[in-house]
Amino acid sequence: MNAGSAPRIGVDSYQDWLKNERIPVIEDFGVHLPEVETRPWPRYGVGGAAVHLKGRGDFVSMFVLDLAPGSASEPQRHLYEEVIYVLSGRGSTTIETADGRRHGFEWGPRSLFAIPLNTRYRHFNGSGAEHARLAVTTNLPAVLNMFHNEAFVFDNPFRFDERLGEQKYFGGEGDFIPVRPGQHMWQSNFVPDLAAIDLHGWDQRGKGSKNIMFILADGTMHAHISEMQAGSYKKAHRHGPDFHVMCVTGHGYSLLWYDGEQDFRQVRWRHGTVFAPPDRMFHQHFNTSEQPSRYLATAFGSLRYPFTESKRRALLGAGKEGQGAVAVSVKLGGDQIEFEDQSPRIEALYREELARARHAAT
Ligand SMILES: [Fe+2]
Repeated sequence: MNAGSAPRIGVDSYQDWLKNERIPVIEDFGVHLPEVETRPWPRYGVGGAAVHLKGRGDFVSMFVLDLAPGSASEPQRHLYEEVIYVLSGRGSTTIETADGRRHGFEWGPRSLFAIPLNTRYRHFNGSGAEHARLAVTTNLPAVLNMFHNEAFVFDNPFRFDERLGEQKYFGGEGDFIPVRPGQHMWQSNFVPDLAAIDLHGWDQRGKGSKNIMFILADGTMHAHISEMQAGSYKKAHRHGPDFHVMCVTGHGYSLLWYDGEQDFRQVRWRHGTVFAPPDRMFHQHFNTSEQPSRYLATAFGSLRYPFTESKRRALLGAGKEGQGAVAVSVKLGGDQIEFEDQSPRIEALYREELARARHAAT
C-alpha cells in the first residue's frame, strides 16, 4: 500500500465492477421494467441497465437487456447463474458447451430460461422490426464479492457438464417432479410460455392459489410462478430478502408492512412490474383483473439448493410435513397471516380496488 493512501475497507466488488460497465443503475422499491431506459453496453453489444430493488438482498441483482431489431449479443461466458424472462419480443439463444456442442431454442413473450453455468451463449433478436427485452436475474453480486477477481469469473475454462441436463430441456420440455402442494417442481432449462405452463393447487396460500417451483439448469437460482384467481388474493406472509416478484399475467397490487406498522405500502403492478419485499416485511398480493393473475419470483436459493437458512425455513422449514414457513400460520411458528387473523382494512381496501378496476375496464 502506498504511504498516505486510504486503507481499502468496505469494498463491494460487484458495485466497483458495475461502475466500469457504464450502464444506467436504477434503484427503487419497485420498477416497471418495460420502461427502463437502457444504454449501449459494450460487454454485451446490446442495450443494458442494472435494476437494484430495495429488497434485493446480498446475493442478487437484475439486468435489463434491450436487443434492437435484428441484433445479437456478444458471446458471454461466466461463473454466475442467470435466470432470464422475456418481457417482449421474439428471438433465440444459442448455448455452446466446452466440448463444442451447440444447443438453441426460440423464445417469445413470457418465456423463461436459464444459462447453464459457465457455458458460452448469445441472444438473437429474431425480428427485423421489433425490439426484444429480457429481464435477467443473477447472483453476480454474490460471485464477484466472493472471489473479487474479474478474470476468474468471466474467463474461466471450468466445465460444469452436469448442469446441462437432458437434451429435451433445451427444447421446451421438462420433467414434473411431484413433492407436495407448494413444492411440486418442473425441471428444465427453458419454459416457452409462463402463461401456459400447468400449475398445481396450493390452497394453504389462499383458496385457488396455484404454483410450480422451477429447477432450471440445476441451478441455485430460485424461480417459481404463482397464480391467484380472479376476485381473489393471497394470504400475507414474510420471509428473507431477494425474491424479485414480477407480474406475468393480469394486474393488481401488493401491500407491504413491517410487523406492528399501521400503514401499508402499496405497489401496483402489471406485466413487467417487479419489486422485492425487503427482509421480513409482510406482503400480500391482490388480483384486480378479471382473469387469473400470475407472477414470477426469482431469487437466490432454490428448493433443491436453498443455500441459506432463511430460504430453507421459507421453502421447507416450518410446521408439519416439511411445509415451508411461508405457508404456515404465525400462530403455529410460521410466517403466514391467515385470512381470519388479518386486519379488516385489507378486505375493505380490496373491495374498493376491485370496484375501481371494474370501473376502469368499462
Ligand atoms: Fe413472498
